[in-house]
Amino acid sequence: MNKTIIVSNRLPLQVIIHQNTLKIIPSVGGLATGMKSVHAEGNGIWVGWSGIPEEELSTELSEKVAKEIRKEKCVSVPLTLDDVEEYYEGFSNKALWPLFHYFMEYTGFEEHEWEAYKRVNQKFAEIVLENIDDGDTVWVHDYQLLLLPQLIKDKKPNITIGFFLHIPFPSYEIFRTFPWRKEILSGMLGADLIGFHTYDYERHFLSSVKRILRLDAHFNQISYHDRLIKVDSFPMGIDYDKFYNAALEHSSNSKEKSELYRRLHEHISEDKKLILSIDRMDYTKGIPNRIKAFEYFLHKFPEYKEKVRLVMLAVPSRSNVTQYKKLKRETDELVGRINGKFATVSWTPIWYFYRSMPFDKLIDLYISSDVALITPLRDGMNLVAKEYVATRINNDGVLILSEMAGASLEMNEALIINPNSFEDFANNLKRALTMPLKDQKSRMKFLQKRLKRYNVEKWAKEFLKSLEETNELKSNIITK
Ligand code: ADP
Ligand code: F6P
Repeated sequence: MNKTIIVSNRLPLQVIIHQNTLKIIPSVGGLATGMKSVHAEGNGIWVGWSGIPEEELSTELSEKVAKEIRKEKCVSVPLTLDDVEEYYEGFSNKALWPLFHYFMEYTGFEEHEWEAYKRVNQKFAEIVLENIDDGDTVWVHDYQLLLLPQLIKDKKPNITIGFFLHIPFPSYEIFRTFPWRKEILSGMLGADLIGFHTYDYERHFLSSVKRILRLDAHFNQISYHDRLIKVDSFPMGIDYDKFYNAALEHSSNSKEKSELYRRLHEHISEDKKLILSIDRMDYTKGIPNRIKAFEYFLHKFPEYKEKVRLVMLAVPSRSNVTQYKKLKRETDELVGRINGKFATVSWTPIWYFYRSMPFDKLIDLYISSDVALITPLRDGMNLVAKEYVATRINNDGVLILSEMAGASLEMNEALIINPNSFEDFANNLKRALTMPLKDQKSRMKFLQKRLKRYNVEKWAKEFLKSLEETNELKSNIITK
């Protein structure tokens, strides 16, 4: 039976060694949380990194990890400490990530990191090739593996390969600054179908292909060597029912409420509201900006002092990378300053958690919050915004969403703001806090209807169907 091989840098599960014992936890991040349900239902395998460098594993633990991982239909790609430093923290997260998110000032181009990026993409290719059978489909994900499609195509020209980018593809003017721009584009063009979250990212990609590689692109098809490559946009959804059902269960009277739930609800009443933000601790998410804008809001509308609380959950991410360390320090200082400035004996304006939380607690946060404040400075999609909507079983609650998130293009009923404008932020937060229930419900219902219909399963099916259709393109070329 033919299978689909999913390939991404990180597996949906992460291995942690704690006092010489092995712990497996779910990975955080849109790719892992979104694709997890797709993988669980299919008959395929998932190839990726376990999250732990090889040097930190004894032979015995290494075997244990491989066994645990295999149980989950996953295959691990061993990365060394050098790989992690140069390919993951280095090239992927100090060059590609900032540049693709328009943070040029954070972007560094290091030749030895580029070499490591090529080396590790080759490592992934070898493991994929060991696991591939004729007739299989390979679906490669994200910016850490941009060279992988071509590496596989070179060895297995008849294998159908899809590639999906989970982050923005920047405009040509940004992308052209990249020293290895030709190699990156050629690597991606090893795929038969290249997918993006939005039409804008697709357009930027096509423009770079035309101008940098001087290739012909008609509508969304690129002629490359003797192949036709399809490019399209597929906005990623979530496992809607999973979030909706979990919210139903957590809200039911028979469910014993968690300590977190009880503490959150101590602060909710007719005139006291909770505002929620959830992100990986990443500079693209606009966390310091959000805190400063919240301070501005409290200045502009002082009547909200003691009436609102911002619950801010940030999950540690890429914490060995300098910019992430700086961001953590800046966030800690800002939260401390604002809490110090406004707090009273009975009120702390910001509740800040810097940790990962299990699914149950995430649900408690979503169902307890009157407003979700999702204000990235740049974000490929943003699934947290969609998860919040899916948990609003009574159709109440307001989503404030940055126009810089891919999700904003499909979520018109949210209050869409420019995260750089404190004025826009403060006015819309006030609007959300005072929005009549009827208005909240009608907006929420539209949002939910769309998310329920276009869930992650549908997203994956559409991508894979479109990928299968590329086989017809291939046979047309052959018969011509
Ligand atoms: P990104 O892919 O950039 O991390 P997304 O918003 O698309 O951003 O996806 C983040 C995913 O990680 C969501 O599915 C969310 O539920 C999960 N997540 C975010 N923060 C936490 C946290 N503190 N604990 C557990 N899961 C989290
Ligand atoms: O969705 C974007 C993304 O970068 C994924 O590729 C990645 O798995 C996730 O966010 C979390 O980042 P990391 O794997 O670096 O922890």
